[in-house]
Amino acid sequence: MPGGLRPVGIVATGAYVPDHIMTNKDLEKMIDTTDEWIREKTGISARRIIDPEDTTSDLAARAAMQCLDEADVDPMEVELMIVATSSPDHIQPPTACVTQGKIGAMNAGAFDVNTVCSGFNHAIAAGAGFIADGSHETVLVVGAEAYSRILDFTDRTSCVYFGDGAGAVLLRPVEEGYGILANYMRADGTKADAIKMLAGAAARPSSEETIANRENYFRMDGKAVWEFATGIVPHAMDACLKRAGLSREDLDFVITHQANVNIIEHIVDFLGMSMEQTHMTIERYANTAAASIAITLDEALRIGKIKKGDVVGLLGFGGGLAWAANIIRWAV
Ligand SMILES: CC(C)(COP(=O)(O)OP(=O)(O)OC[C@H]1O[C@@H](n2cnc3c(N)ncnc32)[C@H](O)[C@@H]1OP(=O)(O)O)[C@@H](O)C(=O)NCCC(=O)NCCS
Repeated sequence: MPGGLRPVGIVATGAYVPDHIMTNKDLEKMIDTTDEWIREKTGISARRIIDPEDTTSDLAARAAMQCLDEADVDPMEVELMIVATSSPDHIQPPTACVTQGKIGAMNAGAFDVNTVCSGFNHAIAAGAGFIADGSHETVLVVGAEAYSRILDFTDRTSCVYFGDGAGAVLLRPVEEGYGILANYMRADGTKADAIKMLAGAAARPSSEETIANRENYFRMDGKAVWEFATGIVPHAMDACLKRAGLSREDLDFVITHQANVNIIEHIVDFLGMSMEQTHMTIERYANTAAASIAITLDEALRIGKIKKGDVVGLLGFGGGLAWAANIIRWAV
């Protein structure tokens, strides 16, 4: 951890995706698109869709409980719970508080982080700080999204990209030399319009007009996102490595936000790494926004792609525009 504070690492992970699968072929029946277009432009074949009776906090709670079970930690031991989400249950109360209640983590504080698809990276950085300064021992960080609830399934330029799911990590003190070595966060609010929901909050409350204009749904300028994600974003990994006193050659593994296979390949190539040094879930789960890195990290660990001592880079980017990286020497 930077600044001579005590080291903090990820000691357990968990993930949950809904059972219901929506394939590209299913989307072909709903909008003017093709399985071929979606696979070529995004690498996505299918995505998971939340059950009708569930909401984002239910996905968060299941991922959180799997993570705590793996670590054999009782929810009452958790002192802080951070949920990264851009599709919260409600504008208020915070989804983190609702999730805290659902898992019974009654000794924990709870707050949301909303930096859209880089929310998980921001939440890890924030959570680690509370352990590094000695004030907390056990922090649970969750990325959870139910984008199917905010997508416009008549808009082919946005609805094909996203899916629902959640992932969780448990942060605790780790041995010296291991854990989160550096964090790096950036934003460019002058490009905030590239990814947005126009209506449904203070700037433009929901009305008959906003509903009629379909302004209460998620919108994305895909080409602007492409330029952002393949332009400035990969440099964040270099900047974060520098903060950690490392260079690209030291990176063993990288997990990027699962936005789009073409973007992931571009970033891996930029870093001079091979596709064996990353893991992807985009084909099966699509882009799960703030949950995507958490879900992909959990799977990479479960299939043994990351081992103790590996230097792992996490790179998130998306609405804000905001982007963030974490460099972690794996501690367990
Ligand atoms: C959006 C993106 C796929 C466009 O790629 P591109 O190679 O520049 O696209 P092309 O110009 O070949 O194709 C765009 C055409 O496909 C059409 N199109 C858009 N969505 C489509 C869909 N779901 N199915 C079929 N056609 C679609 C567009 O209307 C456009 O048609 P037009 O040329 O007649 O106007 C690319 O810029 C991209 O990957 N952006 C990143 C998006 C992303 O990952 N977002 C995640 C948020 S973090």
